[in-house]
Amino acid sequence: MSYVNFEAFFLGPKGENSEFYQRLLKEMLDQHVIWRKAFHADSTSKFISDDDKQLKSFKDAQEKIQNTLYTLQEILKSSQPFFSPRYIGHMNWEVMMAAVLAYFSASLYNPNNVAFAGSTGTTLLELEVGKDLLNLFGIDPVKGWGHICTGGTIANMEALWIARNMKMIPLVLQTMLKNFIEEKKIHSTALPDYAHSLLGQKHHELLNNYSPAAILNLKEKCFALFEKQLPERIDYKNRQRYIEETFDKLCMQTQGFTWNDSSDRLDLGVVYLPQSKHYSFSKAMDLLGMGRKNLRFVPVDSNFRLDVNILENMLFNEERPILSVICVMGSTEESSVDEVHKVVSLRDKLEKEKGKSFHLHIDAAYGGYARALFLDEMNQFMSKEQLKFRLREFGIIGDKADRLTVSWPSDVVYESYEAMKDADTITVDPHKLGYIPYPAGGIVLKDKRMREAIHAFAPYVFGKPEKNQPDILIGSYILEGSKPGAAAAAVWTAHRVMPLNISGYGKLIGETIDGAHALFHGLQTLNPVTISENITIQVYVLAKPDLNIVNYIFNFSENSNLQKLNRLTAFIASKIFGPDPIKSHLMLEKSFIVSTTALSQEEYGDIPFDFLKRIGISLEEWHKVQNLQVIRSVVMSPYLTTDFVDENYVEKFRSTIEKELIQHSDEIRRIYLLD
Ligand SMILES: Cc1ncc(COP(=O)(O)O)c(C=O)c1O
Repeated sequence: MSYVNFEAFFLGPKGENSEFYQRLLKEMLDQHVIWRKAFHADSTSKFISDDDKQLKSFKDAQEKIQNTLYTLQEILKSSQPFFSPRYIGHMNWEVMMAAVLAYFSASLYNPNNVAFAGSTGTTLLELEVGKDLLNLFGIDPVKGWGHICTGGTIANMEALWIARNMKMIPLVLQTMLKNFIEEKKIHSTALPDYAHSLLGQKHHELLNNYSPAAILNLKEKCFALFEKQLPERIDYKNRQRYIEETFDKLCMQTQGFTWNDSSDRLDLGVVYLPQSKHYSFSKAMDLLGMGRKNLRFVPVDSNFRLDVNILENMLFNEERPILSVICVMGSTEESSVDEVHKVVSLRDKLEKEKGKSFHLHIDAAYGGYARALFLDEMNQFMSKEQLKFRLREFGIIGDKADRLTVSWPSDVVYESYEAMKDADTITVDPHKLGYIPYPAGGIVLKDKRMREAIHAFAPYVFGKPEKNQPDILIGSYILEGSKPGAAAAAVWTAHRVMPLNISGYGKLIGETIDGAHALFHGLQTLNPVTISENITIQVYVLAKPDLNIVNYIFNFSENSNLQKLNRLTAFIASKIFGPDPIKSHLMLEKSFIVSTTALSQEEYGDIPFDFLKRIGISLEEWHKVQNLQVIRSVVMSPYLTTDFVDENYVEKFRSTIEKELIQHSDEIRRIYLLD
């Protein structure tokens, strides 16, 4: 078993691989020029001649370009040092050389992946990437579909858009069946089979017993409609056209919320999601006309995972249609992993006991690539024993001092990753744990026929889709229009050099989980820091991370005043370890850089109190302040432990905390004395 050597994949914290990078960068440009010259090579036209290059205006222009790029370099140097293990802030580390080189070289060709005509090379790469991602999640790449978009926000919007339009399909089907009968376009004897084959429901139930509201709760099993085929027994000459026209007339894309021109708005229902959700879902509900008030936030447990027991209770008591349930794999703030396997079982139970179903979406924008850890070289999901053996034997995850006790993954994390294959749609961002430059988000659909629920063909871009070639018309099935083929080239290249299993991405991401657990342990065991006779400060870690984000706070010993705790944590986060948006050039003087977040009662209910009571803060105090200021460290660097570098950056961070707290003792004392 061999693993990729990821040190060959990045420029390196000190630019160690710059020679290789430069050589390939130049070669990419040279190759492009060769390609240009080969196009009508016999043409003698002189476009930019040597004489042209001697002109003052030409030289002035070049100088201006050069100087502006020099200015840009200065501006860029005020960026965050993502490449360093000292950067433990947001979801960033440096991006893969192969991906940047691919992006650069593809951008010379400037392909537009909205349609094949504008991206004859890179559309095909995007389709391959879609299949890579489907394989990553254990979804059949023939039945499913995946594509790249600009990010997780767009992918989440697209998923809810699909869910919304799919929700309406049983109602469309019911109406079509009724119309068939009324217009006598169907033999009544053919109907039971037909209805049954489409919906798996008894036809009389479908036709008579379901009110428009109830029918919306049926699982959308009417994909046969999309294939636009009616059984032979249906006696109607132009049935294909009839179906298409009727469907197009009745579907959500045409009808909107005013079904059948009624003035009553159709209620497509509510969306359930954990309190730890990303705010993109609020944007999506607004844009899709579904209204933010129809989001139902499910409380999370003390591990920041969606509480499935509460969800069950909510779903079984829900009177409105359930449009979707969303799970998060790698929450933005905590990297927590929701128990997808339990939500899948819950969906089965709800279908069986209540005849209701819902679209299951997973927001794995952050945690999606971590599924590579669970796959062997044949892309098979490993047994728990096999996985633990590999993590331990190859030193990927585990306390260095005690490699034998590999406590990751927990059963919950393991089962959840296994169950991802059962979701209807999944958001996954290559520009997060895929180590690809922005913009590269992604979405996969378990069943590619769902695309039909959102399709829109523009003849000038797409032409009429050929029967066997619909896949190349990417833009007709997605939310976005023009989009960089260069992003597809970057992701495709990265996937070809870094396998999407334990030997590639798995190992790299595993090392970051290892680093995050080392940080968790290092902070938990940090001794209180005494900064003056009566002032001692202690750091507290919130929960053991499911993946690689660690949350912690600082407090004065014996302090039970939450406002004071928040002020201290905010001060340390912003003044000691935080980027200063005004004086960004000072950032490179920071010893470590972290990010912050706040856990409010409005968003998290009383879950933060579970933690606060352990450190002596009362419920009354929590209810008064309703907010917990937290430092958040996303560990995307594999260099935190000494596995690949001779210095221990967790140790460095620990000693820096001690030193910096003492250095800032005057300001800290002021916070201490405030009421
Ligand atoms: C869980 C999750 N979902 C969605 C998003 C949105 O992704 P993007 O910023 O690429 O739009 C994020 C961003 O951090 C995220 O953490």
